[in-house]
Amino acid sequence: MCGIVGYIGYRETQPILIEGLKKLEYRGYDSAGIAVHTGQKLEVTKSVGRLANLENRLTGEPLCGTVGIGHTRWATHGKPSDANSHPHTDNSLKFSVVHNGIIENYLELKEELVQEGHRFLSETDTEVISHLVAVEYEGDIVKAVQKAVRKMRGAFALGVLTEHEPDRLVAVRYASPLIIGVGEGEKFIASDIPAILEYTRDIYILEDGEMAVLTRDRVDLFTIEGNPIAKDVFHVNWDLMTAEKGGYDHFMLKEIHEQPKAYRDTMRGRISEDGRSVVLPEIKLTPEQLRGINRVHIVACGTAMHAGMVGKTVIESLARLPVETDVASEYRYRSPIITPETLVIVVSQSGETADTLAALREAKRCGAHVLAITNVVGSSVAREADDVIITLAGPEIAVASTKAYTSQLIAFYLLGLYMAQTLGTQEEARIAHILAAMDSLPDQVEKILAQSDTVKGIAEAISKHSNLFFIGRGIDYAVALEGSLKLKEISYIHSEAYAAGELKHGTLALIEEGVPVIALLTQEDLYEKTLSNIKEVKARGADVFGIANEGHEAEAAKSVDTLFSIPRTLPLLTPALSVVPLQLLSYYASLALGHDVDKPRNLAKSVTVE
Ligand code: G6P
Repeated sequence: MCGIVGYIGYRETQPILIEGLKKLEYRGYDSAGIAVHTGQKLEVTKSVGRLANLENRLTGEPLCGTVGIGHTRWATHGKPSDANSHPHTDNSLKFSVVHNGIIENYLELKEELVQEGHRFLSETDTEVISHLVAVEYEGDIVKAVQKAVRKMRGAFALGVLTEHEPDRLVAVRYASPLIIGVGEGEKFIASDIPAILEYTRDIYILEDGEMAVLTRDRVDLFTIEGNPIAKDVFHVNWDLMTAEKGGYDHFMLKEIHEQPKAYRDTMRGRISEDGRSVVLPEIKLTPEQLRGINRVHIVACGTAMHAGMVGKTVIESLARLPVETDVASEYRYRSPIITPETLVIVVSQSGETADTLAALREAKRCGAHVLAITNVVGSSVAREADDVIITLAGPEIAVASTKAYTSQLIAFYLLGLYMAQTLGTQEEARIAHILAAMDSLPDQVEKILAQSDTVKGIAEAISKHSNLFFIGRGIDYAVALEGSLKLKEISYIHSEAYAAGELKHGTLALIEEGVPVIALLTQEDLYEKTLSNIKEVKARGADVFGIANEGHEAEAAKSVDTLFSIPRTLPLLTPALSVVPLQLLSYYASLALGHDVDKPRNLAKSVTVE
């Protein structure tokens, strides 16, 4: 996720671009840059680090002109650096591009271009686009962009400028957001509305496969194929605060709703075109090394730990390797048995959690191979691990993690399948079957989100209680732990998660008339057993909210007070669906209690102390 802004009009563009980028910093903040058409040529200034660094650079040498594009980056291909910052140019410096998204086939395209003599200065996929546009240019920037785009696979929102055409700015949208702002004598492009709200409230929202050609006086809209299209102007009534949250009341709700996209982005380019195998070129661990691994440790904190617990089941069942999970703050102090044959997987959204980092260093000291699953390229964990799988959830602002957690689940599914195919522990057909089911997850999450109101009603009822329980068996237990943590974090209601079969060994004493119990029932082979445990709590007066698979409604409804059905998927994949109603439950409970959902008391997004 990155932020794009662009301007063509009558004012100096630099301040407009910088102010716009400030509003988009939530989309990425590891480097930034702008390109301005001075009237004679394109000038580019960029800088690694926060936007303030770019502003400092521009203070001494401002870029003057009334047409420009800007970008704030959240690294995916290549670490944060000056060279990897956008805008990117071709070798002639006459074409400049800002991009948000991922070009899946950029390596192939880059190889072809290198053979034709093009020199590349960055590790990014975006630089390929500026070269492609330059190659295709025959006097019309719009046609050149259309031809270049046809060669690209993946997700992209683009802003393109050329020195040859000082009065045109081209924008393209394909699976990454982009809007066009319409003002009197000036036009804008942006990844999100807040960036341009100060100047105009009239916008066009581009859909996938659409492009816009902006001049000072008009906006022409086309499909990528070049067919003209007509669109109504959308008038924005939101205030700036609402706009920054994409129209949602809180970042957490916005991030819950961004999960289908986060799933798609994390899977994008990591599944072979025939859908039958996983492609993880970022993993340097060779098949021989992987065959030499005899145990796996998963180490993390908080929500990332709960993703790790799902990861344990995934790796054990697919790759048939023994897996231990540890909270990072305990790992070093229990003298774990770590050998060069141990694969240590550290999971961290931020990549900066002190305990996780310390565990990583301990594992390396003992000679283990360390693989990190993190959401932040260039973070300490990403830099120090031997291998990194980046989750592509985009920056997460709310303290309570939602889309970062579910993207970690997707990363574990991909990793488990990759290990299975390398070790030959699963039939090719089973791997393809699981991948096909994963492909449906984003749409299935959408279906769950469409039933938010049902969860809201239950959350309001739950918010009146001061104690409740989450129960589940197997992989459902790992999700129960995450559901309970989410509720504690933002609603401050005390809850405990229990392996459903363990409840009767003590905790059942706490169940009395009216105590809410949230029961996960998604594992077919454990269904009957969990139903028995539900009966145990019902007999003591508990009020049970069940989460079960579609198709079990009639049967499950007999045993619980309220039922929420999730779409059917494979047993191993249910956490990617069943956690969503639990996220909504904690969100609406917090809301009902009037708490600060995005910034809960006593907690921090990134904990860099032991
Ligand atoms: C903090 C956050 C949690 C998070 C944990 C681990 O406690 O409040 O939401 O799960 O740190 O963070 P990480 O960035 O390593 O995933």
